[in-house]
Amino acid sequence: MAQPLKLGVLISGSGSNLQSIIDNIEKGALKASIKIVICNNPHSFGITRAQKHGLPVVVLKQEDFKTRADFDGELIRILRSKEIDLVVLAGFMRILTPDFLKAFPLKIINIHPALLPSFPGIHGQKDAFEYGVKFSGCTVHFVDEGVDTGPIIIQSVVPVFQDDTKETLALRILKEEHRIYPQAIQYFAEGKITIAGRKVLIKDTEETPLIALHNPSLAGF
Ligand code: GAR
Repeated sequence: MAQPLKLGVLISGSGSNLQSIIDNIEKGALKASIKIVICNNPHSFGITRAQKHGLPVVVLKQEDFKTRADFDGELIRILRSKEIDLVVLAGFMRILTPDFLKAFPLKIINIHPALLPSFPGIHGQKDAFEYGVKFSGCTVHFVDEGVDTGPIIIQSVVPVFQDDTKETLALRILKEEHRIYPQAIQYFAEGKITIAGRKVLIKDTEETPLIALHNPSLAGF
């Protein structure tokens, strides 16, 4: 049997995406193993989540490093020492240096709470809500040198309702994040992913049967 995919998960906040990865591994749906959780925020609830499941956690504070390069150098050293196959950014609120990207070519993925390329950055849900879109969602993508610009692996679309608030929309999006991130990692574990330019191809998957979505629904057209 193939070895489970070795993951390094980088977090900064609540760690709910980390939790969904842990839960899917524990129930056997995701054939991966978390070798290390690295957190840049000592107050992150994600640390508690990781510890509760007996996962090794390293907390790296930016203030303890002179430069970004030093910080990323330490990240690289830790991840290499664990022989990580895939670096999973799960709410990791830092831009990585080009040296970090070079150290793990096409082996870093991120989840973003909007339908990229719309609404990149750190307030994806709020920006989409304030713009007045009728659909939003989330995106798992490879990380490249831009901000949320790498090739897209999978997206989930959710409606924005007229009585939504930023918070209700963010929650609807987050629930979908918890579904598509483990799925994207499982595609990796199964060796199904190839990249052709900007396009990510995934072998043996069913494409969505939907032709179109409308919000509000069409009234007879
Ligand atoms: C998630 O919504 C994730 O998509 C977002 O941070 C949240 C982390 O939640 N990431 C970004 O906005 C990256 N630009 P979590 O800590 O509960 O997984």
